[in-house]
Amino acid sequence: RTTPATTPATQPVAELPTRRAPGCPFDPPAGLAPVRERSPLARMTYPDGHVGWLATGHSAVRAVLGDPRFSSRYELVHHPLPGAPEGPLDPAPVGDMTGMDAPEHTRYRRLLAGKFTVRRMRQLENRVREIVAEHLDALERRGPGTDLVDAYAKPIPALVICELLGVPYADRERFQDHAHTIMSAEETPENRYAAMVGLQRYMGELVAAQRAEPTDDLLGDLARDSDLSDEELVGIGAFLLAAGLDTTANMIAHGTFALLSHPAQADALRADPDLAPQAVEELLRYLTVAATGVRSAREDVELEGHLIRAGETVTLSLDAANRDPLRFPDPDVLDLRRKATGHLAFGHGIHQCLGQQLARVELAIALPALFTRFPDLRLAVPAEEIPLRTDMNIYGVHRLPVTWNEA
Ligand code: HEM
Repeated sequence: RTTPATTPATQPVAELPTRRAPGCPFDPPAGLAPVRERSPLARMTYPDGHVGWLATGHSAVRAVLGDPRFSSRYELVHHPLPGAPEGPLDPAPVGDMTGMDAPEHTRYRRLLAGKFTVRRMRQLENRVREIVAEHLDALERRGPGTDLVDAYAKPIPALVICELLGVPYADRERFQDHAHTIMSAEETPENRYAAMVGLQRYMGELVAAQRAEPTDDLLGDLARDSDLSDEELVGIGAFLLAAGLDTTANMIAHGTFALLSHPAQADALRADPDLAPQAVEELLRYLTVAATGVRSAREDVELEGHLIRAGETVTLSLDAANRDPLRFPDPDVLDLRRKATGHLAFGHGIHQCLGQQLARVELAIALPALFTRFPDLRLAVPAEEIPLRTDMNIYGVHRLPVTWNEA
């Protein structure tokens, strides 16, 4: 049952805008900006008929993400995407922290936070540099016309997360397809569930081996030192693997596409390698590849002059929030020199991305290295032919054929 808001009734937004304007592969879906201008926190009708909310303003999105009166439990939210299943979703599988609230979430987060510290991620830097250098060599060997997604953007984060967790990279055939299916917005719930089971079966074998003889990596640490059950360890391992594979890969590929489409910005990065950390923040803001979050009000909450009733769902448009002119001047301009701190590309609040320091290290090494190694890097096909991931939960490109002049 839904209750109308007490604020002056405006027509609810009919559905979550998802269509991007032709020729604008880096901009959020075109319908979001007009909604944000009218009302940064608007009523929205969900595909199952629920009348909930859509937050597009930076301050509204941040406020909801930081407020413990909103729940992340999947079974409490109405799904905003067209074609979503009717009725409540299944609860989060064991180990999927994004679908939990405190105190269950706190227990997992405490266990893992100590493993993902800034210091630890910095220590990984040299290894990331080696992995990036190996893949630049491989790219050169493959020659002009190569797909950058396949040769560079996907394997680098995959290798890094595998080494960090203690998952043999050689097994990637056994987990990459499953991870892809889990992340696809167009797969049926049955297929996604089957992929999750497949990934967990694979992880189950690894956990059994780690219990018998823990190795010196994250899964080994958790197998040795934590009170996690086998089921929890399998769930956490599968979730971390999936979370670390697709997100950073899409930032590398889409970040490259954005820089190739803004040559003056690419030149600025080449000219000044110290710009890298700042450039990464701006690319994270500008592209916001993990674009949408969902929460459900556990009690009545007053926010920005509106009353959100207990049980109502709020969809959080991270991409619209990161283009809010009230927070970022000229938000639609990619400007690597701006201070983009405060963006919401990693979320905010208790669920803020656990892997963000790792992602920053990888991006700040992989992007400048690519543009320095291939000073004349360019697209091998017209930009309009680059296939966009409008069908996936994490946005980006499916393929990015690139070329350069051979020495
Ligand atoms: C959570 C984005 C890379 C692990 C999140 C959330 C976002 C996000 C938006 C919040 C979800 C929510 O509030 O519902 C990104 C982006 C990445 C990235 C844009 C790359 C550029 C990574 C990597 C890992 C990772 C490399 C490594 C394991 C996680 C985990 C959570 C999370 C475990 C859940 C945290 C929690 O619920 O407490 N990420 N992520 N992410 N991310 Fe990332």
